[in-house]
Amino acid sequence: MASPLADHWTLRSDIDYLNHGSFGATPRCVLAAQQAWMARLEQEPIEFLAPERTLLPKLDQVRKLVAEHMNASPRDVVFVRNATDGVNAVVRSIALRAGDEVLITSHGYNACNNAVRYAAERAGATVVTADIPFPISGPDDVVDAITACLTPRTRWMLVDHVTSPTGIVMPVDEIVDLAHARGIRVMIDGAHGPGMLQVDLQRTNPDYYTANHHKWWCGPKVSGFLFAREEWQDEIVPAVISRGANLDGFGDTKFQANFNWPGTFDPSPLLALPTAIEFLSGLHPQPAGCGLEALMRANHDLVVSARRLILDRLGIEEPVPESMLGSLATIPIPAWRDCTSDQIKEIGKRLRDEHRFEFPVIRFADSIGCLRISAQAYNSIEQYQRLADVLVRLTA
Ligand SMILES: Cc1ncc(COP(=O)(O)O)c(C=O)c1O
Repeated sequence: MASPLADHWTLRSDIDYLNHGSFGATPRCVLAAQQAWMARLEQEPIEFLAPERTLLPKLDQVRKLVAEHMNASPRDVVFVRNATDGVNAVVRSIALRAGDEVLITSHGYNACNNAVRYAAERAGATVVTADIPFPISGPDDVVDAITACLTPRTRWMLVDHVTSPTGIVMPVDEIVDLAHARGIRVMIDGAHGPGMLQVDLQRTNPDYYTANHHKWWCGPKVSGFLFAREEWQDEIVPAVISRGANLDGFGDTKFQANFNWPGTFDPSPLLALPTAIEFLSGLHPQPAGCGLEALMRANHDLVVSARRLILDRLGIEEPVPESMLGSLATIPIPAWRDCTSDQIKEIGKRLRDEHRFEFPVIRFADSIGCLRISAQAYNSIEQYQRLADVLVRLTA
């Protein structure tokens, strides 16, 4: 049984949905707000959508809210469709040269790593992959693996804030310090950051940070943001070059003008984001003003308890220290070690079709069969208890 809070979402009740991490899930009130924005747009499409009329101030209000939550200046924030879009815009804009090295990690998100490979190949640069262990004993394993890959030719790196296959919260502050001490620029792929972690861009100080609104902030699909430090903004070209590239009136800065108008688009997911943040903040109203923090803590605590009970029932060692978890957790299942991709797919299918669970079952590093659980307000510990029961039977 899901949590009583699940009534706020439209998720099916006959599946235990433990996969908030993939595409998020949008609460009813946020969908209603989005519908209301769409209805307003359709009442007067030109007045609503034309950048020279009333669109830009509406975007700026959302930008201000996003920047506040990220502890950044709104001037340094633009909107993108999603984190893949944000990574593409940056990596395809930076001036890589033949012989340069760019660094990604073995826990990186495939789509974004592909964008890095594409940009590097076109420039004659080399992609170096830092092999981060899994299981992992602590943040030093990450820092050491990255440090071992740095050379005087390293120019740029892409590191996830929270890794997609393994659910690890990376020590991004240390990584940025390490890179900056060597003159290397760092992009953080924070697809999972907002709503899962306290992101503080002033403290972390990355060169670029991109994230999704539709994951842990529960915004409607699709929307996200890209942050870039002022000194790099002029060189960043969006994936879609549009009117703002040479016309006035599309934004306060060249960076914003380039991204504010990606061609005719539906701004309703963005405009409904404040409703999503307000809703999530209201789930834990006490102490006043700290609702989102309390939700993040509750989700973290739930995933930690859920992981603990599965690890204990299956007799598995902790693969990642609790301090490196947000609200995702990946558990390697010994019985699935060395399963083929087809076998892993079959296990995932059985878990969904026969046992009515939704979460990813993956093969990490070509041999480690794992499952990844998420915890969001609509989940309850009973759902993970049922999962542990099923896993005990399936792996006996
Ligand atoms: C670390 C990371 N980066 C990027 C993405 C891509 O997100 P999107 O498909 O919304 O661009 C994901 C999606 O799960 C992710 O986990």
